[in-house]
Amino acid sequence: MINLDNFSSYFVANWKLNGNFKFIDDYIEQLKLPEDETKCIVICPTSIHLEYMRHRNNNFYLGAQNVSQHLKGPFTGEISCNSLRELNIDFCIVGHSERRQNFKETNEDVNLKSNELIKNNIVPIICIGETLKDKESGKTNDTLARQLEEGVPDSSNGKNTIIAYEPVWAIGSGLTPTFEEIDKTHDFIKNHNSKFSHYKIIYGGSVKANNAKEITSLSNVNGALIGGASLMVDEFTMIIQD
Ligand code: PGA
Repeated sequence: MINLDNFSSYFVANWKLNGNFKFIDDYIEQLKLPEDETKCIVICPTSIHLEYMRHRNNNFYLGAQNVSQHLKGPFTGEISCNSLRELNIDFCIVGHSERRQNFKETNEDVNLKSNELIKNNIVPIICIGETLKDKESGKTNDTLARQLEEGVPDSSNGKNTIIAYEPVWAIGSGLTPTFEEIDKTHDFIKNHNSKFSHYKIIYGGSVKANNAKEITSLSNVNGALIGGASLMVDEFTMIIQD
């Protein structure tokens, strides 16, 4: 497994259901990676583009956006950790709110998938985050604590797992919590239970070139998970160079 301690920060591009071969060719040609090799840059294309990206790779890491908790068997349409490992994929997003909402993924699923990934030396990037309803009713911390307690497997630790805090209401909306709120929530994630004190915790939800630097400089923030803005190579380059 990749040694997470070799890096000072993590920038994860979540392309969601976007991209094609031409897009990838242009993107890789134009992408300028930072000289600072302690920044870990991870790109997560659709599963079907992982192998193509592997062959076009120029020094970033690859991540999948989801994986099955099963290794084989009658699970039509699923992709296993074994297959990701065969492609030398180092990271996998797990429990993104779009999967929780659209595909009814539960904390238990997130736990099983993350455990399987760790067994296969792939770093799970476990997404947690409150809905607007949770936030408005003051339940943010309760929701996060439950997602962590139920979704993070016993095999996880700060060296093999990344936590991504992504408020559901901030994803794709152009809205973000204030910088102070982000820092406070990351502090809660790290410190409400000593198990998490050494975890790398990245922020996601409407990260753009004009807010990435301030967000990722917060003392409890170790990087960013970037959706929409990562599809624009100039914008993503600005975020990772900054
Ligand atoms: P966004 O998405 O940057 O477009 O808000 C982030 C994510 O869904 O991971």
